[in-house]
Amino acid sequence: MADLKILGICGSLRKGSLNMLALRACNELMPQGMSMKLATIGDIALFNQDVFDLGLPEPAQRFRAEVTEADGVLIASPEYNFSLSAALKNAIDWGSRPPSQVFQDKPIAIFSASPGPMGGARVQYDLRRILGQLWGHVLPRPEVFIGSAASKFDAQGKLTDEATRKFLSDLLAGFKVWIERMKPK
Ligand SMILES: Cc1cc2nc3c(=O)[nH]c(=O)nc-3n(C[C@H](O)[C@H](O)[C@H](O)COP(=O)(O)O)c2cc1C
Repeated sequence: MADLKILGICGSLRKGSLNMLALRACNELMPQGMSMKLATIGDIALFNQDVFDLGLPEPAQRFRAEVTEADGVLIASPEYNFSLSAALKNAIDWGSRPPSQVFQDKPIAIFSASPGPMGGARVQYDLRRILGQLWGHVLPRPEVFIGSAASKFDAQGKLTDEATRKFLSDLLAGFKVWIERMKPK
């Protein structure tokens, strides 16, 4: 059977992003039969319906095509002021406009990482609310919050915390089952 194609989206644009490090670690932790490529969202202009109506700028068009082509979307998101980063919300907004809004029936898994103790938990509930009303199917459990995240990677950016590796492995295994379950019969 062909690999399930996962699109990884990181809500942080920061070079040293902990969320991006964790997303990259997912490449090693994926069950067999899944592979991931990473989206770039930092070059997508701020959403403007006038611009959308004139014709999609290339970065927004690319992002929409990548989500559409993916069997599943894996989002690693920081919590900014108890919610999403502007960059992630902006990308979602570009994807969300008809025709063919790209999150319709899309299997999605989310996790968050933060240097704080709660691991950015609050952003996940906003993400679920936003993606759910777009008919994206967000994996309900397991929930993964990587708290005190800075201490969980070594100097080379490798995820060294065994408990976190297990949480992410379980999330990805559950995501694979979720994608299969969501496939049209
Ligand atoms: C604008 C802004 C708002 C933030 N708000 C929160 C917050 O509400 N909760 C939290 O846990 N961390 C918050 N932080 C700290 C981020 O969790 C921290 O910068 C984290 O490293 C961002 O993720 P990244 O490492 O993937 O870039 C905020 C950071 C910024 C820049």
